[in-house]
Amino acid sequence: MQPQLSTIGQQMSHLTGVRAIMKDIIETLQSGGGRDFIDLSAGNPVILPEIEQMWRDCTQDLLASPDYGEVVCRYGSSQGYQPLIEAVANDFNQRYGANLTPRNILITPGSQSIYFFAANAFGGYTAGGNLKKVVLPLCPDYTGYGGVSLVPEAVVSYKPSLEIDEENHRFKYRPDFSQLQIDDTTGCVIFSRPCNPTGNVLSDEEVGKIAGLAASYEAPVFIDSAYAPPFPALNFTPMTPQFGDNLVHCLSLSKAGLPGERVGVAIAHEDIINVLQSFQTNACIHSSRYGQAIAARAIASGQLAHLSESVIRPHYQRKYAVLAEALQQEMPKHLSWFLHAGEGSIFAWLWFRDLPTSDRHLYNELKQAGVIVVPGEPFFPGLQEDWPHKRQCLRISLTAPPEALVQAMKRLRGVVEA
Ligand SMILES: Cc1ncc(COP(=O)(O)O)c(C=O)c1O
Repeated sequence: MQPQLSTIGQQMSHLTGVRAIMKDIIETLQSGGGRDFIDLSAGNPVILPEIEQMWRDCTQDLLASPDYGEVVCRYGSSQGYQPLIEAVANDFNQRYGANLTPRNILITPGSQSIYFFAANAFGGYTAGGNLKKVVLPLCPDYTGYGGVSLVPEAVVSYKPSLEIDEENHRFKYRPDFSQLQIDDTTGCVIFSRPCNPTGNVLSDEEVGKIAGLAASYEAPVFIDSAYAPPFPALNFTPMTPQFGDNLVHCLSLSKAGLPGERVGVAIAHEDIINVLQSFQTNACIHSSRYGQAIAARAIASGQLAHLSESVIRPHYQRKYAVLAEALQQEMPKHLSWFLHAGEGSIFAWLWFRDLPTSDRHLYNELKQAGVIVVPGEPFFPGLQEDWPHKRQCLRISLTAPPEALVQAMKRLRGVVEA
């Protein structure tokens, strides 16, 4: 059968960004014929024993409680499971003096859905026919933003400025405020902090400046905090969650060991929460109540924040250090390779300034050498101008064991030298 698709159907039935390349990666791994690939492509978090145990304990507590039937055998409110909403409000009020009430919180089926609701509620065509843009203040950024808008031309991103430390082979992206356009065509703003894929953390000042620009046009700013404190606390540099009338703090439980349960949290002004909540009710009713109930227990007890700092963060921070050291040892000094500052997330980002070929070609060559990474180009969603830099980068997942990271960097050296 060949179903006839609408324009939106055509668009949404194609995979975007990294999801498209993942197909090639999975086929390579499956048809490897027993070849020993080092897979540095994964976005799935490592299953850490202490974290798995915490979710097991929360589940046992739920099973033993009279709430079980209410949680699993019934629909609930679209806003979310009340004990989880209260646990998040209490945690943020105590930790950050945030002054939240339950009306400031919405629980969603994973945080990706928040960006989908936002991009289509605040971005796209207005009744008057004007295009409201979904602005990504700098790229590279999360590849998933490329597929969130039903009006693809609404998503626009901007080239960053680069701080380069030639001697130490390091670099860092910064928003380029001389290029960034936030004006009356802006519907909303989205960025990840810490950033997937680069590990960049925008400073409090940079966030404040973006928020201020957007506030002048009443545009909400969605701060994708999938890797931020208090959980999973995958920041390796100090950072403070920011609050404000037009700021939407977006949490995810995925990198805190619960990706399968689909729990995301939006924290914002009540007026923004109301819009997102109605969108969610129309789209999918609500998130899994089992996931919400165990998340409520882990947050209210303080365990999730504690284990995030004491287990999750050190695990990935150590891996980043191993990778950085392996690159320093292995990679030729005379070549222009640069590792992005490792300020957070579960990834490292490498830039080859004088790459004589493309990121895709380098990805294929590395595959031949038994290493699978992710080519950088899908991480520039919404960038309209052609920028050679976007074909010069690779994303490396820090989920592999340390020995595998070292071995992979040895193989990378071979490929790059060749
Ligand atoms: C920056 C960023 N935002 C959002 C998501 C989506 O997460 P969730 O599982 O909460 O939908 C991811 C997943 O990898 C991510 O890296």
